[in-house]
Amino acid sequence: MLQVKEIHTYYGLSHILFGVSLEVGKGEIVCLLGRNGAGKSTTMRSIMGLTPPRSGYIKYKGVTCTGQKPYLLARQGMGYVPDNRRVFADLTVGENLEISKGKPKDGKGWDKDRVYDFFPDLKKIDSRKAGFLSGGEQQMLTIARALMTNPDLLLLDEPTEGLAPLIIKMLEEQIARLKESGLTVLLAEQNLSVALRLSDRAYVIDNGSIRYHGTSKELQENDEVRQKYLCV
Ligand SMILES: Nc1ncnc2c1ncn2[C@@H]1O[C@H](COP(=O)(O)OP(=O)(O)OP(=O)(O)O)[C@@H](O)[C@H]1O
Ligand SMILES: [Mg+2]
Repeated sequence: MLQVKEIHTYYGLSHILFGVSLEVGKGEIVCLLGRNGAGKSTTMRSIMGLTPPRSGYIKYKGVTCTGQKPYLLARQGMGYVPDNRRVFADLTVGENLEISKGKPKDGKGWDKDRVYDFFPDLKKIDSRKAGFLSGGEQQMLTIARALMTNPDLLLLDEPTEGLAPLIIKMLEEQIARLKESGLTVLLAEQNLSVALRLSDRAYVIDNGSIRYHGTSKELQENDEVRQKYLCV
């Protein structure tokens, strides 16, 4: 589904990613773990075409897409949930969803009803202005909005950041159900336990380089890597 090969990404003169490579297979949840400033969001932005890499390449569904515009990638089924949870504050929850509606899909695509079946808590606040939502509700809404575009691959940037443990648990269950629905997910996280429970495989990034990759079970058992790069 996704292949990132040896990418180098910069913000202006700052060299941030140093030859990052990773792969996500169809139907997998793969997590990208790393401390603050390790390069997780920059990797997501590179994939989504927001901060294209200066060298290396990215293939999506087998086709090179390096440097393609984000809206074109979105049209091809790449969904992106950035780390800032930005919603349209003056629009209601329902309106936020409606304006994100993508092309209908053959078979079982996402529409507002299906999104509300999936997130019943959002249905209850359908007519509330998004500016008044709690952090957890906003996070649900940003994920729900990405689903409305009918993605095949979802890039989720630190969905649990700053949320209360109970909310994190609920989100975790919902992300697990997304996988069951056939979605492929690349999940950037600092929350090791959530990421390892959800994902099949894990990559650890530090200072803009991938330092480790393996199955989530292997990482769970590798105290040395966890302590060295994740401080846990
Ligand atoms: N717009 C920017 N301009 C310049 N440097 C940036 C910019 N955004 C991020 N950086 C730098 O790039 C490096 C990687 O940041 P990035 O946001 O990718 O890390 P992260 O792993 O997502 O961290 P966090 O867990 O805090 O979200 C950091 O050193 C950061 O200071
Ligand atoms: Mg980040």
